Amino acid sequence: MNFSFLGEYWSYFVFGTVNTVVLALFTVMLGTLMGLVISLLRLNKNPLLSFPARAYINVIRGTPVLVQIFIIYYGLPINIPQTMLLGVDLSRFIPGIIALSINSSAYVAEIIRAGIQAVDKGQMEASRSLGFNHRESMRLVILPQAVKNILPALGNEFVVVIKESSIVSVIGISELMYNAGIVRGATYRPMEPLIIAAVIYFLLTSTISRLLGNAERRLRSSD
Ligand code: ARG
Repeated sequence: MNFSFLGEYWSYFVFGTVNTVVLALFTVMLGTLMGLVISLLRLNKNPLLSFPARAYINVIRGTPVLVQIFIIYYGLPINIPQTMLLGVDLSRFIPGIIALSINSSAYVAEIIRAGIQAVDKGQMEASRSLGFNHRESMRLVILPQAVKNILPALGNEFVVVIKESSIVSVIGISELMYNAGIVRGATYRPMEPLIIAAVIYFLLTSTISRLLGNAERRLRSSD
């Protein structure tokens, strides 16, 4: 083991880490927005709305994220010209975020659906008997309680997306895994850059998990 290349190549790991975190943040935000819409469609009593949502969830969760990334990167007719912004190539970064968000949204939709359905149905009955209509009951009574079930699981999704984002290195997005590959090639050290990447991924995920654990404890204590 020889890590002396770090003196010259440390910045690859720093920029890679920043890009990984930015990628994951965008993915979780977009994935949550899309997942929320899909879960509400999925829960709708009208089969014209719930069936497409169900099919979307099943297809996305039933196909590899690697295939989805290739389909979106090579298959989408939108052609983003190569544009560099803060050191990232948007013509790769944007399809990468879109693919990861679509993938994540199917999992988030199920997280939200489970969180909503876990609220006791007596809450809806009580709300309706007080004169709120279905929409008001959902917004004022059910969803605020469902948030408590949803937030911890959404945090876990963030951890998953941090790790899963390493796969967009296959389309040349310079996140942590891709940059580790560059350092491997440039230094002829096949092993050490991977170990550094693994340590950084672990530090990211363990930090987030600890923060989530604290937040979850505070949510529970207000019960
Ligand atoms: N590795 C899985 C796949 O190949 C994707 C898992 C994504 N999971 C998630 N909770 N976002 O499809």
